[in-house]
Amino acid sequence: MSNQIWKEQLEMLNTETVQHVANVSVLCIEFAKLMKYSDDEGYMIQNVARFHDIGKSVIPNHILDKPTKLTDKEFELVKTHSVEGERILRIFGFDDELELSIVRGHHEKYDGSGYPDGLVGEEIPKLARLLNLIDVFEAIASKRVYKKAWNKDKVYTFMKDNQIFDPKMLKIFIENFDYLYNIIH
Ligand SMILES: [Fe+2]
Ligand SMILES: [Fe+2]
Repeated sequence: MSNQIWKEQLEMLNTETVQHVANVSVLCIEFAKLMKYSDDEGYMIQNVARFHDIGKSVIPNHILDKPTKLTDKEFELVKTHSVEGERILRIFGFDDELELSIVRGHHEKYDGSGYPDGLVGEEIPKLARLLNLIDVFEAIASKRVYKKAWNKDKVYTFMKDNQIFDPKMLKIFIENFDYLYNIIH
């Protein structure tokens, strides 16, 4: 994707999403190092994290910025952003199938409760599982227009033993919880 098109797409994202993807990108590379993944994998997830929510550029900002609970219909619309992200990237000539599968799969859950494909466990690409764990962590540990940042204990309790995450990744995450939490606080 050319830098110009990329810049235009990013500028369509609302401010909160821009901050979120910046945080997630930094957390992903740090977590990949803790997982002892290769430099290439670390670089890939750092990069993919920057545009994982690019599909939100087609969701109206009044929904993304809504301070109150979304209606079921609005939530269903927001949920289309992972498939939309893959579609947009393909339109712009992006053809790395692994990276596209990470964008598409970043809301899949280890226990099969995620979307869009309801993949289970290791059916979900490894780096999509990593991105999902970091994505959820960043979302609950940060302030949003519709909620305050959860306090550290509440974030820890939510993450620990949560079956939506890859257990091997979660173990390393919990061992390094303070380090990762402090990166964004
Ligand atoms: Fe997302
Ligand atoms: Fe995200």
